[in-house]
Amino acid sequence: MYIESTQLISIRDKQFEMFIPEEQILARVDEIATEINLAYAELRPLLIVVLNGAFLFAADLVRRLTVQPEVQFIRISTYGDQMISSETAQILLGMEIEVEDRDVIIVEDIVDTGYTTDFFREHLSQQSPKSVRLASLLFKPDNYRGTQAPDFIGFSIAPDFVVGYGMDYAQQGRELRGIYRLSAN
Ligand code: PRP
Repeated sequence: MYIESTQLISIRDKQFEMFIPEEQILARVDEIATEINLAYAELRPLLIVVLNGAFLFAADLVRRLTVQPEVQFIRISTYGDQMISSETAQILLGMEIEVEDRDVIIVEDIVDTGYTTDFFREHLSQQSPKSVRLASLLFKPDNYRGTQAPDFIGFSIAPDFVVGYGMDYAQQGRELRGIYRLSAN
């Protein structure tokens, strides 16, 4: 067990330091929700939430939307328990979601290399959605090698490993209210 009020926490063999506190995250989620509410007024978008990491971002985002979104979940495997992208992807859950003629917003916790979202966009494009945009709480531009960067970005960050607010290190730390980054110490 760790005490989150401290600036430094340990998860397994690693130390992490406070990076983005809860209040800052929620303030930014407010702003993204406002952007989406303006862009999708009258459109009833279909939010496709990429599990597991995006579940808290999606929960906070959805509760701030006034556009009556539909919400579906998908699971795409990539990282496993490692700290770098393996660059192999596979849809494990959510194959049945119907997107034809829908205004889709993919909801991600983090876009790193961009491999996962490029893979999923390609998968969606075969089913003729009306539009597809991507909302990601975090974006690592220095690592990004994809073709379409997120349309709605919470924070652009350096390529440090991060945990908390849905994101894990070896399946731990998802419950943390703030976002922590791997400490140099
Ligand atoms: C994370 C994140 C994205 C992906 C981003 O998922 O949620 O889906 O990695 O990386 P990329 O841009 O390099 O493809 P992860 O595989 O860690 O699974 P999880 O959300 O279940 O923890």
